[in-house]
Amino acid sequence: IKDFQVENEPVLGYMPGSVERRELEGALEKHSSRVAEVPIMIGDKEYRTDLVQHQVMPHKHTHKIAKFYWATHELVQKAIDVAIAARPAWERVPLSEKFDIWLKAADLMAGKYRQDLNATTMLGQSKTVIQAEIDAAAELIDFIRFNALYAKEGTKWQPRSPEPNSTVNKLRLRGLEGFVAAVSPFNFTAIGGNLAFTPAMMGNVVLWKPSDTAILSNYTVYQIMREAGVPGEAVSFIPTDGPVFGDTITKSPHLAAINFTGSVPTFQRLWNQMGQNLNGYRSFPRLVGECGGKNYHLVHPSADITSVINGTLRSAFEYCGQKCSACSRAYIPESLWPQVKDGLVSIQKTLKVGDPCEFDSFMGAVIDKKAFDRISGYVNHAKSSPNLTILAGGKCDESVGYFVEPTIVETKDPKDRIMTEEIFGPVLSIYVYPDSQVDQMISLANYSTPYALTGAIFGQDQEWLHKATEALKDSAGNFYINDKSTGSVVAQQPFGGARMSGTNDKAGGLQYALKWTSPQAVKQTM
Ligand code: SER
Repeated sequence: IKDFQVENEPVLGYMPGSVERRELEGALEKHSSRVAEVPIMIGDKEYRTDLVQHQVMPHKHTHKIAKFYWATHELVQKAIDVAIAARPAWERVPLSEKFDIWLKAADLMAGKYRQDLNATTMLGQSKTVIQAEIDAAAELIDFIRFNALYAKEGTKWQPRSPEPNSTVNKLRLRGLEGFVAAVSPFNFTAIGGNLAFTPAMMGNVVLWKPSDTAILSNYTVYQIMREAGVPGEAVSFIPTDGPVFGDTITKSPHLAAINFTGSVPTFQRLWNQMGQNLNGYRSFPRLVGECGGKNYHLVHPSADITSVINGTLRSAFEYCGQKCSACSRAYIPESLWPQVKDGLVSIQKTLKVGDPCEFDSFMGAVIDKKAFDRISGYVNHAKSSPNLTILAGGKCDESVGYFVEPTIVETKDPKDRIMTEEIFGPVLSIYVYPDSQVDQMISLANYSTPYALTGAIFGQDQEWLHKATEALKDSAGNFYINDKSTGSVVAQQPFGGARMSGTNDKAGGLQYALKWTSPQAVKQTM
């Protein structure tokens, strides 16, 4: 396997008059002035069914940007059959050739198609340009390049052969025997690309079920991968109803793995269905899942106030709080509260909520009607509960798009459901604690929710930072000291959490690509 090195893809600035800004404006115009036709793709063939769906712009929900079709049970089954038939040939393609395909795809994404990825993510998932750029450009490209790099490094390790003249030991990295089902979320275009194509890079055949609310950007990823050389049989693109997909794949004896990002109940449902079908499988299917979070910022009285204010606002409200890593509960000491409150409330007033394609918008709309209803339910709870006070925001308006103001809520009860349940929207809840109770806050941060995805502590008192870091060891898969809980970078902060947040297989980390192999140890005597 030939040697190559990679770096993180630079995030572009999109300043007025820049080349990238002009190109992006062109791509936004192109993708918003038509309704793209997105077929189901199985092998090299396009399929359409009567189950017609549309993707709309969340910030202008009468505006359609894509027409697509839900696959039936029979089509999902067909995709399984096509994948299983294609597996031997795809697996035989040497890893080095697969890496060439991947690196070519990353180059296409970094150059020719960068603005198609950004524009479809901005229009379809209501991301601002910077949020699209760090996702659909930088993170996606990084996933591909670094997974190829780590897989290449992984092939270098070989078992010991202490008597090389008489015995040679080798490890072959095979794909899994069966198919991998990738189920991806709306909130990161990059996650879809990673869930579907990293297993494929390692020799697996994959059925990819994208999220209905990310169809256009995800289909763009699929098309780029095909152009780079991924055969249609290796990855099928199958928009469909979740239960239809889940029921069909979990009943197949060929299921080899599920690579999932989404909600806890859906992951548990898939896990349950696998349990019910366990006797029918030819192998023990692997489960990799990233689920929810209720991420915290815990502030010590010694903290720097400016970084608390800026970090908390960014973590809670960028992309409408719809990052799995978003801060959704904060514990602030009484002594800092007047200044922190002033800062949060005065900056909140300056955050423009609107069309994310206008370059001065800070936030677009939340993803769909279901999300809008769920989030406004929590806002209404804050309005009606005597324990809760809305300090800023609180307006929800779905007349044009699914807009929710960035909302800051103070609670007198640190265990109110607004502090413990995942909201997945722009609602930040704050509990102000007496400074003397800082150690009780460590325990609340750790144990008042079932999740353990991200968490951040802020302080300048080194002794306390050390103590809190130890005590909070199990509270988060991604832990930040004096920085916000969002914004992990591939290969710098591998991402994932434990407890109800998932299986913590660390996307963007060393072991991720190798997880999708079934190694064979070969001993040959001379
Ligand atoms: N990786 C993203 C972040 O850290 C969330 O999925 O913000």
